[in-house]
Amino acid sequence: MVDVVSPAVVEGFPSVNLAVREFLPSDVDGAWLVLACTGVVDDAVAAACQARQTWCVRADDAALSPAWVPAVARVDDVVVSVTAGRDPRRAVGLRDALALSLETGELPLRRSRPGAGSVALVGGGPGDPDLLTVRGRRLLAGADVVVRDRLAPVLDLPEGVEVVDVGKTPGGPSWRQEDVDALLVREALAGKRVVRLKGGDVHVFARGIEEVGACVDAGVPVEVVPGISSALAGPTYAGVPITARGVTQSFSVVSAHLPPGDPGSTVDWDALARLGGTLVLLMAVGRLPAVCAALVAGGRGSETPVAVVQDATLPTQTTVVTTLARAAQDAAGVRAPAVVVIGEVVGVRR
Ligand SMILES: C[S@@+](CC[C@H](N)C(=O)[O-])C[C@H]1O[C@@H](n2cnc3c(N)ncnc32)[C@H](O)[C@@H]1O
Repeated sequence: MVDVVSPAVVEGFPSVNLAVREFLPSDVDGAWLVLACTGVVDDAVAAACQARQTWCVRADDAALSPAWVPAVARVDDVVVSVTAGRDPRRAVGLRDALALSLETGELPLRRSRPGAGSVALVGGGPGDPDLLTVRGRRLLAGADVVVRDRLAPVLDLPEGVEVVDVGKTPGGPSWRQEDVDALLVREALAGKRVVRLKGGDVHVFARGIEEVGACVDAGVPVEVVPGISSALAGPTYAGVPITARGVTQSFSVVSAHLPPGDPGSTVDWDALARLGGTLVLLMAVGRLPAVCAALVAGGRGSETPVAVVQDATLPTQTTVVTTLARAAQDAAGVRAPAVVVIGEVVGVRR
């Protein structure tokens, strides 16, 4: 309820409870907080409030004001109120800076008292920590437990955060997916804020939906934060536009973890060869000779340019530029992780 008392109003003044007359001390009866911003009768308003022991904020003179309104920021469940030497603009500037630091995860947001547990699946991007989203950073700043993949970015985490590495090392020991799902649910049900930090995007060949499903089935609140996939960042960091006007109007992202001809593979390599456009392959190291041969057999030109980007976005990034005919030989030394880009866009690389 807002009551306005004023001797005059401009045309078009919004229709609030409006009394067009001089101020009367009884106008503040029953109020809990009064904002005196008339510039004319603030002394009288303040005196009327004082007599009734009602809080009054004077806009005209901070020194005379019995109360101040702080500048307030709310970020998640945190409220920050700032007063700054009775200087409202200074308080607003500080409030905005604090809100930004909270939103970007620069300030410690971790709870020290137990609360409701939750899981956030965060796409960590392809490796360079700068490519993590702001939302991801904020969730990490409040996390009690971080469950990370091998290819997730390596980050400085706040002190005291428990880190569980569930990375699947190629050829080495690895966590079973069911055990990762169970870990997320168990920690959240114990009241912890869990961040499941994954490499690239949460849903690009990453079994994210299984983890979401486990949380939903267990009644655990779950949030998903997309990340920059290596399928997009790899070409970009190698100077290759994934599409380019006049060059290609489509791109396909394909997992090559099973080679062409493998009974378990559901990828139609012949169709991909005919489709044209840009082809981005993930998990292709070791299968590249077979994939290139299948594409050429399916009708894609053997001189189609190919770029193989190893360790994309990391200081160790290297790129091999070759063709479908020569890729097996030229990229023989490439190690995982690598993204393979096939198509005419590689030819307009800058
Ligand atoms: C299991 S998939 C996960 C993909 C991930 N969810 C994404 O969106 O980037 C792993 C594959 O992603 C690719 N990959 C991930 N990070 C990479 C990087 N920094 N450089 C090159 N390839 C990368 C490699 O092809 C690797 O074999």
